[in-house]
This record gives sequence, C-alpha cells and structure tokens, in this order.
Amino acid sequence: MDDTHPSHPHAASLAELERRHALAEEAGGAERRERQHRAGKLSARERVELLLDPGTFEETDKFVTHRATDFGMDKQRIPGDGFITGYGTIDGRTVFVYAQDFTVFGGSLSEANAAKIVKIMDTAMRVGAPIIGLNDSGGARIQEGVVSLAGYADIFLRNTLASGVVPQLSAIMGPCAGGAVYSPAITDFILMVDKTSHMFVTGPDVIRTVTHEEVSKEELGGAATHNEVSGVAHFLAHDDQECLAMLRELFSFLPANNLDPPPRRATDDPIDREDTSLDTIVPADPSQPYDIKDVITRIVDDGYFFEVQEHFARNIVIGFARLNGRSIGVVANQPAFLAGVLDIDASTKAARFVRFCDAFNIPLITLEDVPGFLPGTDQEHRGIIRHGAKLLFAFAEATVPKLLIITRKAYGGAYCVMSSKHIRTDANFAWPTAEIAVMGAEGAVNIVYGRELAQALRDSKEREGELSEEREAEVLAEARRERVAEFRERFANPYIAAERGYVDAVIRPRETRRRLIHALEMLDGKRDSNPPKKHGNIPL
Ligand code: HXC
Repeated sequence: MDDTHPSHPHAASLAELERRHALAEEAGGAERRERQHRAGKLSARERVELLLDPGTFEETDKFVTHRATDFGMDKQRIPGDGFITGYGTIDGRTVFVYAQDFTVFGGSLSEANAAKIVKIMDTAMRVGAPIIGLNDSGGARIQEGVVSLAGYADIFLRNTLASGVVPQLSAIMGPCAGGAVYSPAITDFILMVDKTSHMFVTGPDVIRTVTHEEVSKEELGGAATHNEVSGVAHFLAHDDQECLAMLRELFSFLPANNLDPPPRRATDDPIDREDTSLDTIVPADPSQPYDIKDVITRIVDDGYFFEVQEHFARNIVIGFARLNGRSIGVVANQPAFLAGVLDIDASTKAARFVRFCDAFNIPLITLEDVPGFLPGTDQEHRGIIRHGAKLLFAFAEATVPKLLIITRKAYGGAYCVMSSKHIRTDANFAWPTAEIAVMGAEGAVNIVYGRELAQALRDSKEREGELSEEREAEVLAEARRERVAEFRERFANPYIAAERGYVDAVIRPRETRRRLIHALEMLDGKRDSNPPKKHGNIPL
C-alpha cells in the first residue's frame, strides 16, 4: 500500500500537519502579501529563502501562536505568530536567522514570537554560529502591552551577551521604530534598504507633537540618513535582493564565532605580485590628495575591497578584504576627504570596527596618512578628546595580528593612535614618502622658529627702512621657506623612526603586498592577551 494513500491510518494526521504548514505559510494572507510586494518589499519567507543556500532552511517554532486574549486577539491566531525563525547555511556554513513578517500584525513583537527569537539566539550561542535578523516590524505588539516590552528586553539581553561571541547582523527591511531599534543597534552590522526601511526612536508624529518640528520619515531615519549622517547603519542596499546578497558577502569574511578563525578563500593572486604604480601613487606635494582606496585595491587579493560605512565619515576608510585568502580588516586614513584628518565621527567609526575585528580574530591592516586631529571649537566642545580616545583604546587593546603601513603623514597624537609600534602593533612598515613628526613642517616652523622669523623681519626693516605690507609678507615667506625646507629635510622622512625601531622596515611601495602576507604568515600563531579584568573602561 502506498504510504501516503488516503486510506493509510496516518493519512489524517499527515493531512493535519499539511494544513498547519499551509496556515503558517499563508501568514497574513495573499492581500497583505500583495501589499508588501507593491511596496517593493519581499515577503519574510522569500527573504529567508534568498538569504540562505537553497533548500537548507530548517524552520523552528513554526506552529507557535500568541497567547493574548484581549482586543479579540483570541480569534486571530496565526501559526508562527508572524516571525520566521530557524537555521540554514550560507556558503555551507551554519547561520541562525529570524525574519519578521509584516503581514501578521505588522510584524509586531509578541511574548510568543520574542521567545522564538530568544530560543534560536540561545542555540546559536551554544553552537557558536552567527545570527542574522531581518527586521520589518511595527514594534511592540500593542495588544500585549508590557508583555511585549519584556520580550524586547529578553532579546536585548541576548544581543548583549552574544556580542563578541558570535557575529550578529541586522538587516532593516521595513519599519524599525521605538525601543525596537536597540536590538539592531547592539548587533555588529546594520544594513538598510533604501526608501523602504526606516529607523527612529521617536517618529515624525511624536516629534511634531513635542517639538513642532516637521520632518519626513525618510529624512528622519531613512537608509540614506543613517548611512551618511548618523552613522547608525553600515550598508545601504537599493532593494531587498541587494540587501540579502550583501549579507551573504559580509558573512563570507567572518568566522562563525570568537574561537574560530575566519574562513579562507582560495586565490590565484600571487603573493609576490608587485604593483609598480604604488611607487609613485603618493603625490610629491604633501598637500595634494590621492585616493587611499586605490592603494588598498592594488595590495589586496584580486583588487577586491568590501567597504563598510562607505558613506559616513569618509575621511577614514574601513572594510574587509583578503590577503592570500585570509580575511583582513582594513583601516585607512583617506587623504582624498578632509585631508584624512581624524575627527569625532572618523574615530568612533574606526574604533568600533577595530573592536569587531579584534573580537573575531580578523587581523588588522592599517594604512596611515593623517595630518592629525581636526582643530576647532566644534570638535573640542563635542568631545574629540573622549571620542578620539576610543580609537586609541581600541587599537591598544586589540590582540589580533596588527600591521601598519605609513604611506605619508603620521603627525602628532595621530601617529600614536594609528596602530603605532608603541601600542603593540606587530609589523610596522613605512614607505619612503612617510613623514613622521610631531606636526607638519609649516606649523612646526611657526612655533619653533617664531623668534627667528621676527628677527628676520626686524633685520630687513633695519636694512630697508619701513616695509610695505607686501614686502613684509615676502620677507617672512622667504625666511619661512628656508626653515620649512630645513625642518622637512630633518623630520619629514621615515628614517629617524626606523633608526629607533619604531618602524620595522622602510619598504618599496611595490612590495607592500608581499611584505604584508609574509608578516601575516609569521603572525599566524600570535598569542597575546590583556591583563585579567572584568572589562576595560573605554571612554564612551
Ligand atoms: C499590533 C500592529 C502594530 C503593532 C502595525 N500593526 N503595528 N499591530 N501592534 N505595533 C498592524 C496594523 O494594525 C495593521 O493590521 C498591520 O499591522 C499593518 O499596519 P498599517 O498601519 O496598515 O501599515 P502601514 O500603513 O504600512 O504602517 C506601518 C506602521 C504603522 C508605520 C508601522 O502600522 C504604525 O505606526 N504602527 C504602530 C507603530 C508603533 O507605534 N509601535 C509601537 C512602538 S513602541 P491589519 O490587520 O490592518 O493588517 C515600541 C516599543 C518597543 O515598539 C520597546 C522596546 C523596549
């Protein structure tokens, strides 16, 4: 007899199972799904299917329902309660995933579906696998009140405990408002879909009521705002498909957990590939910009650089790449934007990235060309001292392999901060164009030779009588020129640092790739640690 024949004694129970599956998969119904599609969004189930390797998704708690009875809720129970949870693989590696289904009570969080998320988070922690959340939700389930808030707090606690243990990635693919934003905020990376996703603690209506300010959802908390202005988001995708592809790409650089190494990817790019254009990429004039991304792509495997926070604080560049197949985290000052100066946003952007890489065994490669911290009352009053200290703290406490290339300027405090030898960087290289000094020659001359410059002016006045304004400027410029040349000759090079051993080698720029790969191999067995403590007190 055919096992699935209707007359088989188990046929009825199998049919009941199918009915329940269908109910769960029907979720909020065809009409609401249509609405979702019309808004340019995929359904939760479609998203999970696209994110994971085909056919690998194993769903958990598909038949969970909410327990609320008020407001007629007892008559509206949908298996799964609007959240899809489970696990599957990306490129064959296990990942846990949840997706909020906007077609069921607006993807709102209930006691029951919060428990589904908590369950997979706990399992992910036990097995050491990353967690990806696909967010599309109206927030706390209004009909459940504080019970829903409790569910959020349960998740926030797990997010916090999982931080630094397994990578946590959040895609915002619809609304994400109120306290709900704090789950993604604690996770490691946030991706937002342009135009269809929004994040804010208080929405435009509340803002209008409280402050009478008129602002659109998009301007307040759209993908562009959080990628360019607030720095809350790390990636901007143009649609759901691109967002899911970006998640897969990001995942490919990350280890499963804090005890595993990141995956290695085979490459045909030769270890000793030399790029002669690097020898001349730094302009002769120290005030001329160049694009540090042109340097990064010439060094790393196959010229492939996966940039993080591309649109925010563009004076520093961060992202992932590979060297001889190994994942690396790149931190680079960007001379092409604000001369690569370090300001508050650049410091916090890079600091968080350094800490992520350190937590997950991803070696750090730093490219340095920095004129210093950004001067001005705005930065000082907003706390550049406190925020700049974050970057210093992050680099100093990091125990992963740390490598540094100074391409040009390494001035002042920024020299110390940017992965200097003194804060435990393992391999410090300088290009011959490096200028390692307390400050730039122009500024230094004003301070060190102030008296001599004034004397030069007095001497001229004695010789020539009262000077015109132009002549005065000419005399001063002439005197400065000599001093600046002298100062540059003495300090604007890498050799004093090399004589002290503060850089390990001054290298030909074309050899950078090979040097870095060899250093990474040498550091393969690196063991380093920080003194035992509950935790440090990074200046927040
Ligand atoms: C229950 C909700 C809901 C919610 C939406 N729905 N949000 N149900 N709880 N929080 C339901 C709607 O009743 C509707 O049901 C369906 O979802 C779709 O909602 P629409 O309003 O028709 O959709 P749209 O016009 O696209 O607007 C989406 C929205 C809006 C902007 C998200 O629904 C909205 O403002 N919702 C309330 C948001 C909110 O204030 N949440 C609480 C925030 S405080 P039907 O049956 O008609 O399809 C919070 C605190 C978290 O979350 C605290 C953590 C500590």
